[in-house]
Amino acid sequence: MKILRRLEEYRQEAKKLCWEGTFADYLAMVINNSRLARLAHARIYDMIAAAGVEEVDGVKHYRFFSDEIFGLERTLEKLVEEYFHSAACRLDVRKRILLLMGPVSGGKSTIVTMLKRGLERYSQTDAGAVYAIKGCPMHEEPLHLIPRDLRPEFQKEYGIYIEGSLCPACQLMVEEIYDGRVEEVPVERIVFSEEKRVGIGTFSPSDPKSQDIAELTGSIDFSTIAEYGSESDPRAYRFDGELNIANRGIMEFQEMLKCDEKFLYNLLSLSQEGNFKAGRFALISADEVIIAHTNEAEYRAFISNPKNEALQSRIMVITIPYNLRVRDEVKIYQKLIRQSDINVHIAPFALQAAAIFSILSRLKESKKQGMDLLKKMKLYDGEDVEGFKQKDVLELMNEVEGEGMSGVDPRYVINRISSALITADTRCINALDILRALKDGLDQHPSITKEDKERLINFIAMARQEYDEYAKKEVQRAFVYSYEESARALFNNYLDNVEAYVNKTKVRDPITDEELDPDEKLMRSIEEQIGVTENAKKAFREEILIRLSSYARKGRTFDYNSHERLREAIEKKLFADMKDIIKITTSTRTPDPEQLKRINAVIDRLISQHGYCPVCANELLKYTGSLLNR
Ligand SMILES: Nc1ncnc2c1ncn2[C@@H]1O[C@H](COP(=O)(O)OP(=O)(O)OP(=O)(O)O)[C@@H](O)[C@H]1O
Ligand SMILES: [Mg+2]
Ligand SMILES: [Zn+2]
Ligand SMILES: [Zn+2]
Repeated sequence: MKILRRLEEYRQEAKKLCWEGTFADYLAMVINNSRLARLAHARIYDMIAAAGVEEVDGVKHYRFFSDEIFGLERTLEKLVEEYFHSAACRLDVRKRILLLMGPVSGGKSTIVTMLKRGLERYSQTDAGAVYAIKGCPMHEEPLHLIPRDLRPEFQKEYGIYIEGSLCPACQLMVEEIYDGRVEEVPVERIVFSEEKRVGIGTFSPSDPKSQDIAELTGSIDFSTIAEYGSESDPRAYRFDGELNIANRGIMEFQEMLKCDEKFLYNLLSLSQEGNFKAGRFALISADEVIIAHTNEAEYRAFISNPKNEALQSRIMVITIPYNLRVRDEVKIYQKLIRQSDINVHIAPFALQAAAIFSILSRLKESKKQGMDLLKKMKLYDGEDVEGFKQKDVLELMNEVEGEGMSGVDPRYVINRISSALITADTRCINALDILRALKDGLDQHPSITKEDKERLINFIAMARQEYDEYAKKEVQRAFVYSYEESARALFNNYLDNVEAYVNKTKVRDPITDEELDPDEKLMRSIEEQIGVTENAKKAFREEILIRLSSYARKGRTFDYNSHERLREAIEKKLFADMKDIIKITTSTRTPDPEQLKRINAVIDRLISQHGYCPVCANELLKYTGSLLNR
């Protein structure tokens, strides 16, 4: 069985990561490679940077996040640069608790989980290797064994900075077992693992009244206290709080602001001084990234309470708004669908339609002349619209505050899709099904005001209109293809006329051999389809001829697909000419053999080239027929 072999290989791999030696061995390694002694923030920053960065339009895209988080590039850039990068340089921000604040299911937990899982994997690589004092409950940095008095010397000689002091358990061990000979203390390589409680911790508040700080800082072990005689003997203490075990890595603090203030104060000294108080011990050093998350309402309540000022100044807030790009929203749905066991065909544009609805609900009106929500949505999505170009995006984003902090969340959409599937029992779901399900869901939504509902229903109507446009175009494309010969003929005819027009010659009629003037009416009827004005027609025609001759020089044929705009114009013209044929063909109940042939060709085309299944291809045709007949 293959799996048995894989299990064996897996164990071998894990074994390769084992290393054990003395502190003296470790010192030799660290002096060679100071990255081993990185602090937690620097390790995480390196991990993110190691996955690669790509700069697109002046925004950094971190590949570390790009498989799972979509459309939040600016936010993630801020998170990585302003927090992790600065913290990696040991700037003051590393002493702050990182608080991700944003609307529900906007990806906060996903970001934290990615960092946690990423760090587990990174610690298994050479670049991310971590070493610790063997047996230390907090797997602490072995360099802590170097006495404070010697550290300046060490730093001067090797350029390695040491922060923090030995934990009580290690102090005792060094004295009792090694009699102070630190170089003999055993050191091991560790691999981070949340399951094994090494380097990764999660804290989730329970009832604020009964919340026990021991969950964070460990507790006295009453079963051994009699044996060691004192509460201040580290052997009678369990260093198993989340802050202890997450040392060197990350502690996720879920719903932090739901905790009692008193409780949070324990975090103050950790964030400020890098150490915390536990039991009867001197302060215990900890080197870890604390990431908390919360929603906007809780955050507002928190900052409006003056009692929280001290804590507030020790928090760095990064807002995580919703994604605002349609194409990225589609990727989110696709990801969520892949993760669930929804197993039906999803018609083209079905998820786009839902995404249009969601994004519209998250946008805020602009005051700019000629800008509306739909245009803004398209512009954000990378499409230039009338009067605005991509360079205006940033200005629009900065015009309003809090955009993306409210609106429809991705989970709602996925839930509605699932429920549509269960009730409809279909093999395929299209844009109309999804929009209907979204609309029905609004009635069941408990926390929606009447105005909100009206607004959202309006967005559903807008998404529907976008779908109508799309459906018409899609059918037009497929029809034009089945009329490809006509498209080619029209194209060649146009080119002959343009050639004669530019060269000031005549066009020869193929049948009568007559010499004719170029057919201005025909040329204009095509050019008008794509908005080429009377003034611009000459330049347009000349440009086409230049393209044509450049193709000829390279020995390539200039055909109907070679020029994107011309192709669009030809298709539109043909569609306009054929509108009636399409109208009749798609809506007739009893197609004649010729019509039937066309319909089948169009359906085949939709299935083989455009991602439809027989169900949604037929539905699309029927729907478009009814649209054209309106
Ligand atoms: N921008 C995004 N890119 C990719 N996936 C996203 C994005 N936003 C949300 N999701 C997905 O939506 C789901 C909910 O997100 P997540 O649980 O991370 O949100 P959250 O902000 O922690 O929400 P909550 O406040 O409810 O805890 C996840 O499956 C997540 O992958
Ligand atoms: Mg969450
Ligand atoms: Zn220790
Ligand atoms: Zn389908």
